[in-house]
Amino acid sequence: MSNDVVVELEGVRKCFGPRVIFDDVSLSVHRSEVVAVIGPSGAGKSTLIRCINRLNTFERGVIRALGHEVYGTEEGKPALKRDELRELRTEIGMVFQTFNLFPHLTVMKNVMLAPQRVKGLSEAQATARALELLEMVGLSHRKDAHPRQLSGGEQQRVAICRALAMEPKVMLFDEPTSMLDPELVGDVLATIRRLALDGMTMILVTHEMMFAKEVANTVVVMADGRIAEMGPARQVLSAPKTERARSFLERVLPHTDGGGVTDVRTHPQDQGGPIAGPIDSIGGSALWSREADEEELL
Ligand SMILES: Nc1ncnc2c1ncn2[C@@H]1O[C@H](COP(=O)(O)OP(=O)(O)OP(=O)(O)O)[C@@H](O)[C@H]1O
Ligand SMILES: [Mg+2]
Repeated sequence: MSNDVVVELEGVRKCFGPRVIFDDVSLSVHRSEVVAVIGPSGAGKSTLIRCINRLNTFERGVIRALGHEVYGTEEGKPALKRDELRELRTEIGMVFQTFNLFPHLTVMKNVMLAPQRVKGLSEAQATARALELLEMVGLSHRKDAHPRQLSGGEQQRVAICRALAMEPKVMLFDEPTSMLDPELVGDVLATIRRLALDGMTMILVTHEMMFAKEVANTVVVMADGRIAEMGPARQVLSAPKTERARSFLERVLPHTDGGGVTDVRTHPQDQGGPIAGPIDSIGGSALWSREADEEELL
């Protein structure tokens, strides 16, 4: 793995029971690269990114992420040690469709908790970091509110802050805007855009094709249990080379004529709105996911 590659998948196969969800998936993500993963429902996009921080196990192949090496369960290699798994999830932030802030904690405390408990930051350090992040997403004035007092979009922006508070080196986003009211989508995308400009390495599952074209360096099209096409975002989205990618793009973008993205904005709000954005995040990752073994990790 070259120094510049921070996440690398090699020949990854994932099954659920007897069903092979995808096979032979290989992919390299370089530092500061933004990779958008697109494809039809059920193609395995979420499963793929969940394998990267080990929310899902996989059967074959290897995933190397930030110096950690995770092998498929059938590869006959020892499993990742508990400490290493914890470290991996601290370094890879994850943001899901739905947010899951702690309802009994204020906005500030939601953002401060993981850095204090997992990274050992002092109260003062965690406070400073949280304020800086909330400022960035335009929510410092809501720092003492509880999640139920916030709009969905605001809650999601807090969730992003919570992910970023762990200072992850890589961020995984799983359709971060799909649960949002349309008027909130632009703010989320603006936040992600800003992270991209700041050089954050990101893997983003999205249906926002125009956004992918604008922000992603690379687009991966998953379909039929494999990577159907992968390449520079503009090329894949404007002039897909494979029939499978073309047919998918034609379906999601029926108003284009060649299977490519032209001037379509899937959300008219995505016009470069304010820097802010919601999401269900997981700071320093799955540490906070109900889907992860949260009890064990904290
Ligand atoms: N825990 C699970 N147990 C069994 N099957 C699962 C599980 N999670 C996902 N699957 C199946 O794996 C396949 C891939 O699911 P996944 O959620 O990764 O797809 P996706 O590409 O993210 O789809 P969408 O665009 O709808 O989110 C689907 O057929 C799904 O039903
Ligand atoms: Mg999904």
